[in-house]
Amino acid sequence: MAAFSQDEIDALGTRAEAMVNALGAISAEPDRLVRLFLTAEHRRAADRVAAWMREAGLEVTADARGSVRGRLAGPKRLLIGSHIDTVIDAGKYDGPFGVIAGILAAEHFIRGDERLPFGIDVLAFGDEEGSRFPATLSSSAACAGAFRTENLKLADRNGVTISDAIKAYGKSPDDIPNAAYKAGEAAAYVEVHIEQGPVLETRNQPLGVVTGIIGQTYLNIEFLGEAGHAGTVPMVLRRDALAGAAEAMLLGERLARETKGEVVATVGRITVLPGATNVIPATVVVVFDIRSASESAHAGLVETLKNGIREIAERRHLGLTITTPRQVGITPCHPAIQDQFAEAIRALGAEPLRLASGAGHDGQAMAKLCPIGMLFVRCRGGISHNPMEYASPRDLGLAVATLIGFIERFDPEKVG
Ligand code: GLV
Ligand code: MN
Ligand code: MN
Repeated sequence: MAAFSQDEIDALGTRAEAMVNALGAISAEPDRLVRLFLTAEHRRAADRVAAWMREAGLEVTADARGSVRGRLAGPKRLLIGSHIDTVIDAGKYDGPFGVIAGILAAEHFIRGDERLPFGIDVLAFGDEEGSRFPATLSSSAACAGAFRTENLKLADRNGVTISDAIKAYGKSPDDIPNAAYKAGEAAAYVEVHIEQGPVLETRNQPLGVVTGIIGQTYLNIEFLGEAGHAGTVPMVLRRDALAGAAEAMLLGERLARETKGEVVATVGRITVLPGATNVIPATVVVVFDIRSASESAHAGLVETLKNGIREIAERRHLGLTITTPRQVGITPCHPAIQDQFAEAIRALGAEPLRLASGAGHDGQAMAKLCPIGMLFVRCRGGISHNPMEYASPRDLGLAVATLIGFIERFDPEKVG
């Protein structure tokens, strides 16, 4: 087993931080970080990652969705990945650090004397955030052989479909099935990620072992009212779609609050048409993001919310369409992978705290292929999806060293 001195851990952290900063500089906008799936910025970040993988000694390919794959050959493979797309006005660490940790860990085994009884694939996915198209995790789903072909028709805000975007990126949608791993080829998928919450910082621990990823539902609610003159139509005669949506949003907030922390519900995206100050809103689409670690509390809230929204639409004489573009159950992390991460953390002198992930991750899709596991890294103030996101180089170095320790302990037979 490799034994790391504090200087070696700090050197790994300094390298990781420099790489995080290099990717953080690749943005569609000069004043904030925006790197969306299948855009020119995605291409630049993917090229940067591919170059690092080659420098580390990995053999590099890219699949039909632009996911970069760096391979260290071996009979069965441990997959290590994360994503390089971002939310709008993002932090630098969410996603890229997991890819970077994978590259630095693989490099350790390529350069050193230790020989592994399995291969490694480092994966850089491009569609974890769902910031461009109304679908998420479709890159990892393609690797897991679970890509939904109907998603190719989904369009971004400019009407560009995923299918068109893949072609513009220089790839072919027909090749998506080739991205899938064959049954039995992947021993496990693991991901290193900043926690995106405050638990590790509060408990004064740099690292945490993830027990599982919460269940998640997206409810797409479209209210259909009637456009009219904001100055002439009496209040009682209006069919205002936005007023209905506002009631629905407050209902979602109240129901989630009543669960006392079991369920969280958010509306972060709303479309109002025609969208003019002096026109009564005719069409409004709101998307609820509902998450919970309890299957029953989650299902109960979704049902109550949908019934409440139907009642609001009826009372206000609004048309209503409800669709569910995303529904994922709770994804457990494999107990043996949790234990191997815990041992690797303990070997570095830290306490392996166990915690659930409230954020979504590519592991939710990869779990359809193989057992999964995750390692969390403390981030300042628990802040994420925000340019203030920060993790210290020392914690980043510890995370890379832990990933290396995990790989040394990893036994494909124990997760089979
Ligand atoms: C991704 O970061 C998500 O949890 O939505
Ligand atoms: Mn992420
Ligand atoms: Mn994110």
